[in-house]
Amino acid sequence: MATYNIAVLAGDGTGPEIMTEAVKVLGAVEKVYDIKFNFEHALIGGCAYDEFKTPLPESTLKLALSSDATLLGAVGDWKYDTLPPEVRPEKALLGIRKGMGLFANLRPAIVLEELVNSSPLKPEIVSGVDIMIIRELVGDVYFGEPRGIEVKDGKKIGFNNMIYTEDEIKRIATVAFETAMKRSKKLCSVDKANVLDVSRLWREIMIETAKEYPEVELTHMYVDNAAMQIIRAPKQFDTIVTGNIFGDILSDEASMLAGSLGLLPSASLSNDKKLAMYEPIHGSAPDLKGKNVVNPIATILSAGMMLKYSFDMDSAYNLIETATKKVLQAGYRTQDIMSDGCKLVGTSEMGTLIANEILNK
Ligand code: IPM
Ligand code: MG
Repeated sequence: MATYNIAVLAGDGTGPEIMTEAVKVLGAVEKVYDIKFNFEHALIGGCAYDEFKTPLPESTLKLALSSDATLLGAVGDWKYDTLPPEVRPEKALLGIRKGMGLFANLRPAIVLEELVNSSPLKPEIVSGVDIMIIRELVGDVYFGEPRGIEVKDGKKIGFNNMIYTEDEIKRIATVAFETAMKRSKKLCSVDKANVLDVSRLWREIMIETAKEYPEVELTHMYVDNAAMQIIRAPKQFDTIVTGNIFGDILSDEASMLAGSLGLLPSASLSNDKKLAMYEPIHGSAPDLKGKNVVNPIATILSAGMMLKYSFDMDSAYNLIETATKKVLQAGYRTQDIMSDGCKLVGTSEMGTLIANEILNK
């Protein structure tokens, strides 16, 4: 029987609640397929700081590096807001991404037909949207040096460095073109090449890489225009590739096409998918902690992406996606996607409904 070791990093806030549901659904997948998951839990974020005085203990990174895949819930809580920046929970997220070399972040924004009415946008605009945002995850202004806050001539200045090397752009370009080849062969590279030198290099390397993929139609869009077009006419996009900070912003924006941040999964991959981490794109929502109200679907679908990308179990991914759609078709909703005439359920009920749907398939 195939056995996979999964590092489970539930994190802070509502992270543990949504992770429980993802593990529940994977338990159902185990029963349907001849497969075994060994889940090993470790601390990350604020809870790790409480225990070890660091948000990313070495033992956690080691576990992630030695597992077949890593599942992450979410990190952060207001009670850590006053901590120095180097030990804040977010630092752990950036640290584990960097430590595992997860440069390619895949963030699909798919509008499920069952939920077209959950989006704040008109149904005819969002119905049928299926975008794959590929965000570079370990470079850009997030990691660029020099950085800091200094005093010059008696005044404080804050600065970060938006920087990409040719090689960093090339490897994310390759992932993007490969992904576009498996989709509708349309790739839109988002940059700010009218202003930023780093974006001019970005564009140059994208154009160069396009020569290796003559079948892919490459277009370029400035990030401000892309932010507008994603709302105005999202169906014009298929695969989008962009840098770390633009991808951070555009993926939150794209989640609103689907109706809720609680629906969007993500995969973060290293070279050749050797290492991978799967997490919902949303945060830890500490205000909702312990209330059994958050939507576990983004985390459940992230577990689905793990089956697809790390273990090549496309059919198991489809099984999870279909089960989720069926539960939504039956009218069950968590509060973030609730609409008239639907049945309101909590986090754990939603997980159980999806798991049961898988078992009864
Ligand atoms: C995300 C988040 C993180 C990021 C934060 C929590 C550091 O917004 O995964 O999109 O900016 O990458
Ligand atoms: Mg973000």
